[in-house]
Amino acid sequence: MTKPKILLARAVFPAIIESLSTRFDVATNQTDQVLTKSELIARLQGVDGALTTGSERIDSDLLVACPQLKVVANMAVGYNNFDLPAMTERGVQGTNTPDVLTDTTADFGFALMMATARRLTESEHFLRRGEWTKWRYDMFTGSDIHGATLGILGMGRIGQGIASRGAHGFGMEVIYHNRTRLDPATEARCRASYVSKAELLQRADHLVLVLPYSAESHHAIGAAELAQMKPTATLTNIARGGIVDDVALAAALKARTIAGAGLDVFEGEPAVLPDLLTLPNVVLTPHIASASGPTRMAMARLAADNLVSFFTEGRVLTPVNTVTSIVR
Ligand code: DGY
Repeated sequence: MTKPKILLARAVFPAIIESLSTRFDVATNQTDQVLTKSELIARLQGVDGALTTGSERIDSDLLVACPQLKVVANMAVGYNNFDLPAMTERGVQGTNTPDVLTDTTADFGFALMMATARRLTESEHFLRRGEWTKWRYDMFTGSDIHGATLGILGMGRIGQGIASRGAHGFGMEVIYHNRTRLDPATEARCRASYVSKAELLQRADHLVLVLPYSAESHHAIGAAELAQMKPTATLTNIARGGIVDDVALAAALKARTIAGAGLDVFEGEPAVLPDLLTLPNVVLTPHIASASGPTRMAMARLAADNLVSFFTEGRVLTPVNTVTSIVR
């Protein structure tokens, strides 16, 4: 029997390639070249399934050009690289990797928030430059995490993980805003109180963004929102570039209308707004919130298992759309 053909659009763990090769005719990209749209379309010719990352856009043009494609397994919990209505319309199943990265990503969000509040990288750069000649009472004084008010915008699984860490580990008061309010039991478990977005912006000492990117969340934090925050507040973004207006953020950081920012994601990444690179009061990391070794392996395995399950059982483990009609 001929094996289904799959494309692993980016480099993955060799063990994943090995296990997929027992069931599929596998094409790889272990040089990890980020494929342009036309390169991706060319590599997807005659291919039944693909493993992608957030960098590969699966849109209507691509689907029309690759009519054999039936399933795309994203190795990410976010899937804003999928044009979901187009995929659903053409009967293409999409999947993501929820749950397996929740705690690792929440850990990182907390670390980035703490690094920002306590000016970790700014002080390290000072030390590395050889500028540390004496102790001084006000050297790199930042703001406290314990006892502060933690604001969370987007209260899904990762937001809840950050809330619990703040409330239970650091005695923080946790407030959140979300499209839908959590049920009382979940609020109690996270010790989090629901507030309006305006109240969240005004009261948070440390605001963490964990909402999915969509047309509605584009520039959810712009100049008007930043202006409502306390001058002592920090902003941490581990969600997606584009949720924050980076130009407005750089202006706020420069004018010190907020104290600092921790950014793991950027508009137009991997390019970073040059202004952000020169500002001292921002901690910058290259989209690594889920990057612990075990978690990246679990994400790759889940994406691979979705492909296996689709072709062997006709269903997937973590769907992001429901495929009913097929227009080809
Ligand atoms: C995710 O899982 O969505 C991370 O941002 C990695 O892309």
